[in-house]
Amino acid sequence: MAIMIWNETYSVGVSELDEQHKSLIHMINEMHYAMNKDKGQEAISSIVEQMFDYMETHFTTEEGYMRNYDYLGLAAHQQKHEEFRIKAKELRERVTSGEFVLSFEIVQFLSDWLQNHIMVTDMKYTSHFSEKGVR
Ligand SMILES: [Fe+2]
Ligand SMILES: [Fe+2]
Repeated sequence: MAIMIWNETYSVGVSELDEQHKSLIHMINEMHYAMNKDKGQEAISSIVEQMFDYMETHFTTEEGYMRNYDYLGLAAHQQKHEEFRIKAKELRERVTSGEFVLSFEIVQFLSDWLQNHIMVTDMKYTSHFSEKGVR
């Protein structure tokens, strides 16, 4: 069972960004599936790494739109992305040192973070981009 399912309420009105959000949600579900199937730490860790990398790609794309369309909330939004980076780095270090085992706790953290970030922070730019005619 999927832990997170994209639906129209997640739409930020910009198709490229919606597609990236869908991919991130897909990766979270893959991670959840791998854990359910007891795929082992190696396999799970590679999906987690892929997701962190793709999150970085997404942040760059999203901030690019904000810059190109003069969105005034850019700095505050970047701050939220930076907070995620710090948390991701900390999780990576704890996993590498063997102190932390990749578990449902991390899937839960990632899905909660993403859901909250899209619904609260990303949603703030939707009216701006829509006024600028971005689709
Ligand atoms: Fe964002
Ligand atoms: Fe986003």
